Amino acid sequence: MTVLRIEGFVIVSADGMLANADRVMPQTLKFAGDQRFFDAALDAADLVVHGRDSYEDQPNSPRRTRIVLTRSVAALAPAPDNPKATLWNPAGARFEEACEAAGVRAGTAAIIGGPAVFAMFLPRYDTFWLSEAPQVRIPGGLGAFPGVPERTPHDILRAAGLAPTDRQVLDVDGPVTVTAWRRES
Ligand SMILES: NC(=O)c1ccc[n+]([C@@H]2O[C@H](COP(=O)([O-])OP(=O)(O)OC[C@H]3O[C@@H](n4cnc5c(N)ncnc54)[C@H](OP(=O)(O)O)[C@@H]3O)[C@@H](O)[C@H]2O)c1
Repeated sequence: MTVLRIEGFVIVSADGMLANADRVMPQTLKFAGDQRFFDAALDAADLVVHGRDSYEDQPNSPRRTRIVLTRSVAALAPAPDNPKATLWNPAGARFEEACEAAGVRAGTAAIIGGPAVFAMFLPRYDTFWLSEAPQVRIPGGLGAFPGVPERTPHDILRAAGLAPTDRQVLDVDGPVTVTAWRRES
């Protein structure tokens, strides 16, 4: 049986955006303190999960076991270009089956986007790590979840049964903070 902790990771602007209107994460959302936090969290995770257009672009990326969502496969397939990656179409296989195919049965799965992928796991997060850069605005950008900016990421996380707990400053230059949104028991 597969028993995984599910954790989400994102950095958003003050208006809840994770990328610009061209679906590209701008330099203005990249902060050394946040990148260190994200890198350490992914090193500690057993599995990284993301859509075909997301990636973490870190030195240890090639070593990480990952599941990549795509409609280019019917259900599950090994990625042709990465021996550590499994391609997954949720229309054809359950997440647990994807984890089995990736060879991961326990530990922590880090969900790293984009918006549709973040939304799919909303009912399942144990913790969602929400990094925020309150000085950055990306009008017309790509929201962290579908429905942003009409609803804030906070509204969406609360509606999914998560509540903000501890908060740390990751980068005084931003400033950037990260808040652990945990499932209320
Ligand atoms: N600020 C942050 O922390 C952060 C976090 C994550 C992402 N981002 C940025 O967001 C941008 C990418 O976001 P995005 O939404 O365009 O891309 P994405 O979610 O990474 O990838 C979208 C692709 O994933 C696949 N996919 C998504 N949902 C699926 C589903 N339910 N079933 C099957 N396949 C599915 C599809 O691939 P196919 O087309 O192959 O079918 C889809 O085209 C990038 O610029 C990235 O850097 C920023």
